[in-house]
Amino acid sequence: MCGIVGCVGPRDAVPFLLRGLERLEYRGYDSAGLAVLTPAGLQIRRTVGRVGRLAENLAQSPLEGSPGISHTRWATHGPVTGANAHPHRDATGRLALVHNGVIENHDELRQRLLAEGHVFSSDTDTEVLAHWIGKSLDSATGWDDYLAAVRRALAEVRGSYAIGVLDARLEGSLLAARAGSPLVIGRGGQESFIASDEQALSGMAREILDLEDFQIARVASGSLEIFDRAGSPRSSPASRSLSLTEVDEGLGGHPHHMHKEIHEQPRCLERALEGRLDEDGATVVFAGLHRTNRQLREIQRLVLTGCGSTLHAAMFGEYVIENLARMPVECDCASEFRYRNAPLDTQTAVIVMSQSGETADAVAALRESRRKGALVLGICNNPRSTLARESDGGIEIRAGSEIGVAATKTFTAEALALAMLGIQWGRLRGLPAAEATQLLKELQSLPELVRRTLDLEEQIARVAQRFAQAPNFLFLGRQASYPVALEGALKLKEITYRFASAHPSAELKHGVIALVNPDTPAIFLAAQDAVYEKNLGNIAEVKARCGPVVAFGSDGDTRLEALCDATVLLPATGGLTAPLLQSIALQLFAYHMAVALGREVDRPRNLAKSVTVE
Ligand code: G6P
Repeated sequence: MCGIVGCVGPRDAVPFLLRGLERLEYRGYDSAGLAVLTPAGLQIRRTVGRVGRLAENLAQSPLEGSPGISHTRWATHGPVTGANAHPHRDATGRLALVHNGVIENHDELRQRLLAEGHVFSSDTDTEVLAHWIGKSLDSATGWDDYLAAVRRALAEVRGSYAIGVLDARLEGSLLAARAGSPLVIGRGGQESFIASDEQALSGMAREILDLEDFQIARVASGSLEIFDRAGSPRSSPASRSLSLTEVDEGLGGHPHHMHKEIHEQPRCLERALEGRLDEDGATVVFAGLHRTNRQLREIQRLVLTGCGSTLHAAMFGEYVIENLARMPVECDCASEFRYRNAPLDTQTAVIVMSQSGETADAVAALRESRRKGALVLGICNNPRSTLARESDGGIEIRAGSEIGVAATKTFTAEALALAMLGIQWGRLRGLPAAEATQLLKELQSLPELVRRTLDLEEQIARVAQRFAQAPNFLFLGRQASYPVALEGALKLKEITYRFASAHPSAELKHGVIALVNPDTPAIFLAAQDAVYEKNLGNIAEVKARCGPVVAFGSDGDTRLEALCDATVLLPATGGLTAPLLQSIALQLFAYHMAVALGREVDRPRNLAKSVTVE
């Protein structure tokens, strides 16, 4: 995993590299480093921690030169140390390499290199790759030799990689290659770039080209050569202009990005609804699906897949779509789905979900589904992502860029997209117009309901502070609130480092109840819905065993207040939107607990915003 940026041009590459790396921190922030070709030769600088530390280091002791390559790391092989930070050199020290991906046969290659006397200074698979490529270059004279040697070396490498190579022998150019990990090439006025995604190049490159798997590129400031795995030159791929407006990375007066993003939800959800609710037809219209109603009706079964918070949104979708559209919906995490030999027929659509559109397992699930001939629809936040580009059609969730590592607004926007899809598919499969009209009204009121939920922040913060010292938490909910419980527990684990475990409320009796004690708060999601009384029964079971209960219920529920140790009453609403309000309340709960515990809210330990390795 990790992000890479390279720059080549007449000006100093270092400021470009740092700017790009900062935008790639969502791919990991364990360490950062860069290598540049200076008049004194190839120089490397590496620091543990965030890109800001590398920038400070360079401000104190500057490096200047071009071309340059750089990297922000999420540790896979070897702990978070300076020695394991990229770039890595080959045995001669002439070549430096940055890498995103996992070299699966690194052990075997390492043994072969050790037998030949190579000495390694890190635990990484990347250093093995640098030595492996470097070794094949021993006798390379001239570019043709160089290219042939790199091709030979890469032919024996198994796994995934996007690499940038810096070497004086490349005569003022950079070498880039990819297999399974994303890499784009960017061209600006005087500079050319490589990067893990185009957002890293926003404001620096004017056009973007995609490198394909198994291609090798030689990138210079005024030229670009691309070769396939046989070494044959390929014409440059079509370029697209980089129209991205600069990402707004300011905090806008909020203490953290996560706080800002939680509060952006009313507007995000409004945007997600805009132009999609067809009141006359009592349905929802998604232009991006690129399917007629007739084609959609032919779909008899849906598979929803994704990872992390997105998987929880998908699970919410399973409840909602099955209920509204009366069609079988399965939900599976993308890492399992891609290797599970799931039967897919022509009447099954696979909906691959990923806010970033770059999660390795989600992209792999998409490709596996395509190989099996299924219709693949994508739901994501980035219309320029791999997921968006490779799916047959899809839904953009319109949440805007999310910088806090813990997903907040993208979770609710994904859930809303599935709620809308449930109505659309429902209308194709017998959902009465009058019922659908009611549901559309409920969705229209969502932004306002979310504003009222956010008004409860102070109360939620007090509850979070009160229970902040508890070591373990249980999260319990039923029906569509069960995935919300899972998501609430995940938020808490991610940013407070407290242990939390989520279950359907009734599962309590099947083992989890053994964990109930006065130090383990149980967080219940108990709206006044069809399973309300059942939830009250489960709450009573916890109370009977002296477990503290915090309940998120519906406005005016005095019964719940009387039963629980702390109660937060959310705006009363229908079953389609109540889980979303609960989710937002749990985001605030986790956020305020993390703040009370002094955690690094936006960049929690060990995590990355987008997981680009499997
Ligand atoms: C990582 C992030 C999670 C996110 C998951 C899926 O684990 O830390 O917050 O939910 O990836 O990301 P995606 O971009 O595919 O939705």
